[in-house]
Amino acid sequence: MSLTIYRKAHFNAAHRLYRKDWSDEKNDEVFGKCNNPNYHGHNYQLIVGITGEIDKETGYLIDIKILKQIIKEEVEDALDHKNLNLDVPEFKELNPTMENIAVVIWNKLRKKIDPKYDISVKLFETPRNFATYTG
Ligand code: NI
Repeated sequence: MSLTIYRKAHFNAAHRLYRKDWSDEKNDEVFGKCNNPNYHGHNYQLIVGITGEIDKETGYLIDIKILKQIIKEEVEDALDHKNLNLDVPEFKELNPTMENIAVVIWNKLRKKIDPKYDISVKLFETPRNFATYTG
């Protein structure tokens, strides 16, 4: 038997999608408005899923206070009100697409959460556009 619990979080961040090695025309063609040289923001919504077994003693799958703290430190403190391209080391050489942001968040959480749990990260860049990463 396994069960998944979820914790929601959100952060606001700015980004620009582009490749330095491409022309302005090609960047515009591929990345459209997300290539705006002056950056733009998104209100990212995050849903973290933790899958495992219910602890018989506590009835918890994981102590959600601890999960909340890990998400605060690894995601909110690291990304909220940041320029992802300029302020966040993981995106110095990596395009901050929602796909890559979801993978970066998953990798950060994976280092902090007991390997006995499976982790999923669902990241909404807009209410209609989102990505799920499960490792
Ligand atoms: Ni964008």
